[in-house]
Amino acid sequence: MIVLGIESSCDETGVGIVSLDAAGRLELLADEVASSVELHARFGGVVPEVASRAHLEAMQPTMRRAVRTAGIELSDVDAIAVTCGPGLAGALLVGVAAAKAYAAALGVPLYGVNHLAGHVVADTLQHGPLPSPCLALLVSGGHTQLLRVEDLAGKISEIGATIDDAAGEAYDKVARVLGLPYPGGPPIDKAAGRGNPTAIHFPRGLTGPRDAKYDFSFSGLKTAVARWVERRERDGEPIPTDDVAASFQEAVADVLTAKAVRAATDLGIGTMVLAGGVAANSRLAALAAQRCADAGIELRVPRPRLCTDNGAMIAALGAHVVAAGIRPSPLDFSADPALPVGTVCV
Ligand code: KG4
Ligand code: ZN
Repeated sequence: MIVLGIESSCDETGVGIVSLDAAGRLELLADEVASSVELHARFGGVVPEVASRAHLEAMQPTMRRAVRTAGIELSDVDAIAVTCGPGLAGALLVGVAAAKAYAAALGVPLYGVNHLAGHVVADTLQHGPLPSPCLALLVSGGHTQLLRVEDLAGKISEIGATIDDAAGEAYDKVARVLGLPYPGGPPIDKAAGRGNPTAIHFPRGLTGPRDAKYDFSFSGLKTAVARWVERRERDGEPIPTDDVAASFQEAVADVLTAKAVRAATDLGIGTMVLAGGVAANSRLAALAAQRCADAGIELRVPRPRLCTDNGAMIAALGAHVVAAGIRPSPLDFSADPALPVGTVCV
């Protein structure tokens, strides 16, 4: 069976194609992404209307490229999955409308699925099925959550989340303070590699004894970095960009991994999976590997390409949903910018 996935929740137009065999094994046939990130760079963040228009222009070419790469015809597709939330309303609508048109024209079932569950499923394309239960640390530009995943096609529950900024958002804002390009994750990751992570001690949010055990906060950290840089500028001193990046990155990776390992240990969960754009971060993966090994937890980290937004993860989630025997979505479903993580398929 061939499942096609369409992703358009933010600034990446993704079309992925997977095949699912009788034994439930997934094979990735195509993963094409067109990004509008350059159109947003000068604004320091995604401009929703610009993203929607870019999706509209990129949808058909990306679809054609994916079908060609997979070596199939569109008529070979047996089911379509599309991200219907959470994300930017206009951007989601382009993907949902396109998916409905393709599904109707091809006469195949359509599944409106959850972007966040898609991030978690991405790892199965590289490392095979996830054990049940597992703990997902989902860290992206819009979300930072700890999820208990019992069943990828349905039972996903949130056990902790950020109370303010997402981790990726903090990366993007700190990059701006340091004069680094948008999106901030990759350039900070690179600068941090040259810097000293212990040069400056930045605060670790919500790690006091009375704070919520599994929740996160990154807005204080972001402000602390901005104040530190402002003070140096006021004193006419140079900004040690690499050291600031490394020290900021250490604070993020420290808090994320400490809380995730604590949650897995408390809940008796033996496998942790990293997901979302920030999971592509080199220090996060290294520190998670070290702390999981110390705690006897198996760690799974997909390759960077599968961490950031893509259509392959949506195709993979579609395949899981089909394999679980879940009924297709009614054709009148709409995009839901605030779709809760517990709703895997609408
Ligand atoms: O999952 P994603 O592609 O889109 C959302 O659903 O938000 O995540 C994008 C976020 C951006 O904030 C970007 O700065 C961050 O992921 N990111 C990284 C790295 N690569 C991307 N953050 C830290 N280190 C990286 N190497
Ligand atoms: Zn995402």
